Amino acid sequence: MTSKQRLVEKTKKLFQEKYNKNPEVISVSPGRINIIGEHVDYNLGLSMPAAIDKYLCVAISKNKEKKINGYSATLNDSFSNDHLLNNDSKLWVKYVHGSINESLKKSNYNSGFDLVINSNIPMGKGISSSAALEISIVLSINKIFNLKMSNNDIIKNCQSVDHNHINIQSGVLDQSACLLSKKDSIFILDFYDMNIEHLKYNLKNIKWILIDSNIKRELATSKYHERVNECKEALKLLSFNNNEIKSFRDLDINTAKEISLLPSKLQKRVNHIVSENNRVIKMKEAISKQSIKEMGDLLTKSHISLRDDYEVSCSEIDTMINFSKSIEGWIGGRIMGGGFGGTTINLIKLGYEDSFIDKLSKFYKKQIGLDCDVLDLSFVDGAETIYINSLN
Ligand code: GLA
Repeated sequence: MTSKQRLVEKTKKLFQEKYNKNPEVISVSPGRINIIGEHVDYNLGLSMPAAIDKYLCVAISKNKEKKINGYSATLNDSFSNDHLLNNDSKLWVKYVHGSINESLKKSNYNSGFDLVINSNIPMGKGISSSAALEISIVLSINKIFNLKMSNNDIIKNCQSVDHNHINIQSGVLDQSACLLSKKDSIFILDFYDMNIEHLKYNLKNIKWILIDSNIKRELATSKYHERVNECKEALKLLSFNNNEIKSFRDLDINTAKEISLLPSKLQKRVNHIVSENNRVIKMKEAISKQSIKEMGDLLTKSHISLRDDYEVSCSEIDTMINFSKSIEGWIGGRIMGGGFGGTTINLIKLGYEDSFIDKLSKFYKKQIGLDCDVLDLSFVDGAETIYINSLN
């Protein structure tokens, strides 16, 4: 039995114990990483994410009480609330209510639900445990009522949960990655038109490793919004100066003049967006050519751009990346996700993983005084709904 199957079985059992019935539907979503293409989703750019073999599982069933009864085995916490109105301030409860209500918003259905959540995706580490929760619930509701949502509807519904219930004006990178990934593949996602290109991934002589800096991303939400607003402002000024510029994708070498007219802070933000989109395209070429060195260089350039132009890194992670350069076997790496702490993604020569981790952890402990946790990755299929019948 795989760890995913074990998680599903355990969640089903917990549901039966809790509610004395079988769940109608069980859905499972993986967490995600992002190889490259950071802070470009809400700027209609390009990213290269992948789902990873850590999962969140939701077992759910309708009830007649017009209540949402939820139990999180991960947090060992539960709630029971009116199905329409949530007055609980706990974040996970907001995600559950938000996901249910956004899914049913455009339908004539309203109902109460019993549900159990169980997850082995580490929380708050930048690998999208919350997007996995949203996706699992929206997929389940879609199945229960046969709402015929397309993948894009599901992704948009999850984004509305972030916007309307959590107050984060995020893009759709996380949810798209959790839903659309394919095993042993990575994909290029174009947020301009949601076009997807899957790349078979068969590089055998390298390893991807995530390192958790254990720096809490405290300012993450407010600084994230600051960047979203700066980008809106930059685009407004760019289109004012040249009405052919309707998105950052319309910028090229010929529009360099317009970029240079922006206030210097906004120039830096735009430089990151334009250069990061180019790096995604170059990464695709590097992977196709199996050019490991080029892949590493692109990661490291992305880090520099996130650090200096987009200013979403932090000194502890910069120290970590700088030191990694001196470790044998490290090919490249960068801060991953929203930033201001959290996790780095690193490309390591096969066989050097243990010595890299050993050297980096010792240095980090001595220099910063913190442990750095390690996560080994393999790329898996995106989220799916599993009918309870198929499990019996
Ligand atoms: C967070 C957001 C995503 C994306 C990344 C940065 O993970 O939820 O939408 O903007 O930051 O790439």
